[in-house]
Amino acid sequence: MNKIVIDSITKIYTTSEGNKTALNNVSFQIDEGSVTVIGGENGSGKSVLMNIIAGLEKPTSGKIYSFAEAGLVFQEADTQILGETPREDISFGPKNQKKSK
Ligand SMILES: Nc1ncnc2c1ncn2[C@@H]1O[C@H](COP(=O)(O)OP(=O)(O)OP(=O)(O)O)[C@@H](O)[C@H]1O
Ligand SMILES: [Mg+2]
Repeated sequence: MNKIVIDSITKIYTTSEGNKTALNNVSFQIDEGSVTVIGGENGSGKSVLMNIIAGLEKPTSGKIYSFAEAGLVFQEADTQILGETPREDISFGPKNQKKSK
């Protein structure tokens, strides 16, 4: 079953240097229980897309259909809380509750 449907998402930023297209008509679906990797070179729009899926930014056009709540873990050294990776941050609580791996 599709949990998240990304339907024709376009994101255009208006900057002092003119319009900048960050995402151009992106469509795909993420199935329940699947692991999806979004790859691409620097500046190709991965973070913008994640922000839109999580509802932190609005697309210029297109729609997100989400049948589950989308959370976002930022992987930026400056915004990590406890560890050096989101995995370390996330595992901190369960580890301290002595949960098994
Ligand atoms: N608020 C903004 N205003 C103008 N342009 C923006 C804004 N946010 C992102 N962009 C532009 O949109 C494009 C996509 O940026 P994004 O940060 O999504 O790339 P990325 O694939 O996550 O790159 P990286 O691999 O470096 O994390 C870039 O050209 C970026 O400069
Ligand atoms: Mg990014």
